Amino acid sequence: MEGSFPASSSSREIADDGWSDVLAAFENGGGELPDQWQALFQPLLNVSARPLMVGQLGQSLDGRIATVTGHSKYINGDSCLAHLHRLRAVCDAVVVGVGTALYDRPRLTVRRVAGRNPARIVIDPRGRLHDWSSLCTGDARCILITGPDARPEVPDNVEVFRLSLAGEGFDPEAIRALLAEQGFRRVLIEGGGATISRFLTNGSLDRLHLLIAPIIIGAGPTGLQLPPIETIDEAVRPRTTIHRLGEEVLIDCDFSGCRPIGGSA
Ligand SMILES: NC(=O)c1ccc[n+]([C@@H]2O[C@H](COP(=O)([O-])OP(=O)(O)OC[C@H]3O[C@@H](n4cnc5c(N)ncnc54)[C@H](OP(=O)(O)O)[C@@H]3O)[C@@H](O)[C@H]2O)c1
Repeated sequence: MEGSFPASSSSREIADDGWSDVLAAFENGGGELPDQWQALFQPLLNVSARPLMVGQLGQSLDGRIATVTGHSKYINGDSCLAHLHRLRAVCDAVVVGVGTALYDRPRLTVRRVAGRNPARIVIDPRGRLHDWSSLCTGDARCILITGPDARPEVPDNVEVFRLSLAGEGFDPEAIRALLAEQGFRRVLIEGGGATISRFLTNGSLDRLHLLIAPIIIGAGPTGLQLPPIETIDEAVRPRTTIHRLGEEVLIDCDFSGCRPIGGSA
């Protein structure tokens, strides 16, 4: 299915375009969204008890999410960046891996659209992030998920939660359970590729908004990095909806009912 998208990239224009009704519906936990927002946001509104986990990745035509130096600002244009901020605005919390926190020094705020800033969460099993100044600005909860033996250096206003490390890291379902306990109902996994890939591999990602920019980076990390499969019939086949955002394309992937990575039918 193909849908169009409101062409605006500015917050104040969006507010006049029914966006305030979207925010009200998410605040109230239900309702019908204005027509132009339904295809993308209605699936995020209807959540069950466990937090809905939605990922986003902005990638080039050749599937890269950054250059070889880690530079990624900005692969996508204004419309996609506004969409990312809308996702933040309808989620209670936004999660990044420590790689993104170190490379990008993100603020993870809602700046390009109207809405409330989500809680900011960093997954950092070894306590590698020392500079929290871009993230902890006092206008939203700030949370570190770290390992049992880490000695993180964090400001007083960072809440620290420890999970046990098993195999390759934290079990994404243990992260989901922790976020549920903290009262979050919709969580945006904003990146990077390694973090989103772990959720997807584990079957812990409900949706992914893949934002494809018409550029070719040529080398650098790819977004999704999953365990190898031998035959194409083992590939993950989400239900997809395609939207155009100016010159870019948003593919909304719904993983409900998908078999595990590499699993059999
Ligand atoms: N284009 C986009 O949409 C986008 C979005 C975000 C970031 N980026 C770019 O992506 C790059 C960073 O991405 P990345 O994939 O290298 O790193 P990342 O996903 O930001 O962080 C990965 C690290 O986070 C920790 N981690 C995440 N999930 C974990 C789990 N389940 N258990 C234990 N540890 C976990 C691990 O830390 P340890 O290494 O300490 O074990 C892991 O190596 C940067 O260049 C950034 O600019 C692009």
